[in-house]
Amino acid sequence: MADTKKHATLTIGDDSYELPIHSPTAGPDVIDIRALYGKAGVFTYDPGFTSTASCDSTITFIDGGKGELLHRGYPIDQLAGQSHYLEVCYLLLYGELPSAAQLEAFEFSITHHTMLHEQMVNFFRGFRRDAHPMAIMVGVVGAMSAFYHDSTDISDERQREVASHRLIAKMPTIAAWAFKYHIGQPFVYPRNDLDYASNFLRMCFAVPAEDYDVNPILSRAMDRIFTLHADHEQNASTSTVRLASSSGANPFACIAAGIACLWGPAHGGANQACLEMLEEIGTVDRIPEFIARAKDKNDPFRLMGFGHRVYKNHDPRATVMKQSADEVLELLGVEDNPKLQVAKALEKQALEDPYFAEKKLFPNVDFYSGIILEAMGFPTSMFTPIFALSRTVGWISQWKEQLGDPQMKIGRPRQLYQGETARDYQDIEDR
Ligand code: CMC
Repeated sequence: MADTKKHATLTIGDDSYELPIHSPTAGPDVIDIRALYGKAGVFTYDPGFTSTASCDSTITFIDGGKGELLHRGYPIDQLAGQSHYLEVCYLLLYGELPSAAQLEAFEFSITHHTMLHEQMVNFFRGFRRDAHPMAIMVGVVGAMSAFYHDSTDISDERQREVASHRLIAKMPTIAAWAFKYHIGQPFVYPRNDLDYASNFLRMCFAVPAEDYDVNPILSRAMDRIFTLHADHEQNASTSTVRLASSSGANPFACIAAGIACLWGPAHGGANQACLEMLEEIGTVDRIPEFIARAKDKNDPFRLMGFGHRVYKNHDPRATVMKQSADEVLELLGVEDNPKLQVAKALEKQALEDPYFAEKKLFPNVDFYSGIILEAMGFPTSMFTPIFALSRTVGWISQWKEQLGDPQMKIGRPRQLYQGETARDYQDIEDR
């Protein structure tokens, strides 16, 4: 961390404490409170970490006011439009866009790590048939530490790299197999002559009786969905991965923790929840009723796919996703898809409503992604697994960065205790 000349002064009663201020390359200044407890004997209080920077990072930057998302400095719309997922993976992991030779070597490594240890088939079969694919993914990714023990030594740089490549490479196979198991079809093995997105689509939709010809437009749309979800700074699941990793846990265990966190409807589960909401609304004339519910403080209902902790103007990923939805639905000849019609009308009506404008609530990345995925043939239960597979590179890049950070310490927040103070135990007959 660069030395700083700026300071903030905190006054508590008659005492004052100088706290250094660090200036980032972009974004607001950061007050360094690490020495505060030692000097002043007080903690800071910030549930939900709304004002707390948990680490230094050089990977992803978001300007929520401007609606800007940069990976290693490159805007997401340029990456989604001109690059492709594996190149973005390289960028996130290694910090720079690859040369042609570096990209070829990286793609070769990822392609040649896509198969799963054959014994993992038995592991999949241990799940109930009706298990949610996310439940299978949490279990199977955690179990990778048992199957790939030779890449769990986090002090060995080569093992760290192998684990990173294995996770990026095997996640599509794991997600596709979780899907196949869930719908009672045989597993389809990866093929090395296909690109990353096409391989995933084929593993999901081919059956032994009939191969699946991957439409390049659908494969491009799939690749764009992966790219748009690749990383997103210190969100809940990434922070979970970093916290798990801070104890020295192995990479497969850390990523399993990230997947578990992503599952919730306020985070990665929002794409499934959003499509279910559009289905429930059903027709454009019912939209006002749902907008009224979203505004009602006594109703827990929220517009899924709306709002974001950081974006307060627009989510740049949502703009690309909306264009992609139009392209895919046109290709498939379903431009009059009722959910797309409801989504577009809902977006328009919500944005015209003062409640959403005042609270700076806009469609986020999940508002349109479900419509594309459903049109491709995925059930809603697969939406969050696809988010998890896309985000794996972000988690693993942040994990790698953290392990190389000399300031890394085990994550251990403090608390504002509001419970009973010390009291004596009473025998049960005296209570
Ligand atoms: N519908 C209706 N009201 C909302 C919504 C919504 N979707 N989102 C926020 N609000 C209101 C909320 O009731 C609160 O009102 P008040 O100030 O009167 O209490 C205000 O806006 C601020 O909300 P918050 O919950 O304090 O904001 P947050 O930053 O903690 O939450 C969020 C962000 C994304 C969890 C929230 O907007 C939400 O629940 N959205 C729906 C779920 C969703 O789409 N999640 C996907 C996020 S993008 C993908 C990802 O990164 O995982």
